[in-house]
Amino acid sequence: MGFAEPKPDAGGDWRELMGLIDGLSQFELVSPGSLDVEPRMATLLDECLEATGGAMGGTCLVQAGALCTAATRQAAAPGELSEWGPWQVTHAVVGTGEVMCTADVAALGEGLNAPEPMTRHAAAASGPVSFIAVPIHDEEGAVIGVLELLDARDAGGGSVPFENSLRGLVQSYADRMGAAVANARLASRLRRAQFETVFRLSVAAEFRDSETAAHIQRMSLYAGLIAEGLGMPRDQVELARFASPMHDVGKLGVPDAVLLKPGKLDAHEWHIMRSHTTMGAQILSGSDSPLLRASERIALTHHERMDGSGYPLGIRGEEIPTMGRIVGLADAFDAITSPRCYKPAKPMETGLEIVLRDSGTHFDPQCVEVLERRFDDFLAVRSQFAVDDGDPVPEWMRLT
Ligand SMILES: [Fe+2]
Ligand SMILES: [Fe+2]
Repeated sequence: MGFAEPKPDAGGDWRELMGLIDGLSQFELVSPGSLDVEPRMATLLDECLEATGGAMGGTCLVQAGALCTAATRQAAAPGELSEWGPWQVTHAVVGTGEVMCTADVAALGEGLNAPEPMTRHAAAASGPVSFIAVPIHDEEGAVIGVLELLDARDAGGGSVPFENSLRGLVQSYADRMGAAVANARLASRLRRAQFETVFRLSVAAEFRDSETAAHIQRMSLYAGLIAEGLGMPRDQVELARFASPMHDVGKLGVPDAVLLKPGKLDAHEWHIMRSHTTMGAQILSGSDSPLLRASERIALTHHERMDGSGYPLGIRGEEIPTMGRIVGLADAFDAITSPRCYKPAKPMETGLEIVLRDSGTHFDPQCVEVLERRFDDFLAVRSQFAVDDGDPVPEWMRLT
């Protein structure tokens, strides 16, 4: 038809959005992998044991008011790893913030609440077994955990006390553990901010044409259910959930005169309307963030159809990225089963019949199969987010 490519609304909010998205990709420099502090704690514990000649060791962190084992080493069997330290001592170190060090763990007293691997190790030793427990601090100096080492050995393998000169070294490892925990907590906060930003921007885009926050909540959970039902790995399921809300972000670039037109759109207006896919992809393009790259693919391809009759590219079948096929179904299914100003909502069962009818032509049959198989889960999402509760950031997106 030769229509000129529509440009994002001059003076519209898309420029602001581009700025925010720029900031968003910075957030993601903190990779989700860095949220998991335990491997780092385990590495530091190994290094500390190596440096001090300790035979066994463990770390505990205060989490939600309770002491939890974070990393343990040299225990007798995997089943015995769940608890390591003598809990009275661990609690005492958390309470006082003082280092506890003894040349003979037996001197800590009879009836010490020490777990089996530790007591067995001590019982099997031919002589005194040394022990040291040092506090782990957060960046403000509060005690957030304990590093404990058992049974220092000399070069010849004989049991020796943890020398006073080693206390500083052990404390330095505990300090590095504290820094690792602080980094992980910061990463977690950044990640939460990132997801909240994605969600709020998505809601902003949808609000322009009276879609609701509840639509975003439902379609994003539907997308996660489909990805899970397809057997995708956990990180991809998360990606489907968190990238899908951005599917219509390109609507920010569609002028009000088209987006909010009450009557039928003419051919030119339809062309502009359809360009929300390419504009969304354009807004999200150029990032090396996995989340934004997935969002870009989804924005571009969520209106493609399996038989090639979709837009904007007219690609078919597996030419359509999996995320595009997943979100295409999740978004359309929620649109079918939700009221719009121009139509009432169809019941969920009718929605299922419609997508089954259009399976293979419009929708990916494998995705539809998941929807049918896990229909109860879709019903549960629908009833949980039946109405827009006015909160643009749902509880399930608030990561701890
Ligand atoms: Fe769309
Ligand atoms: Fe949508």
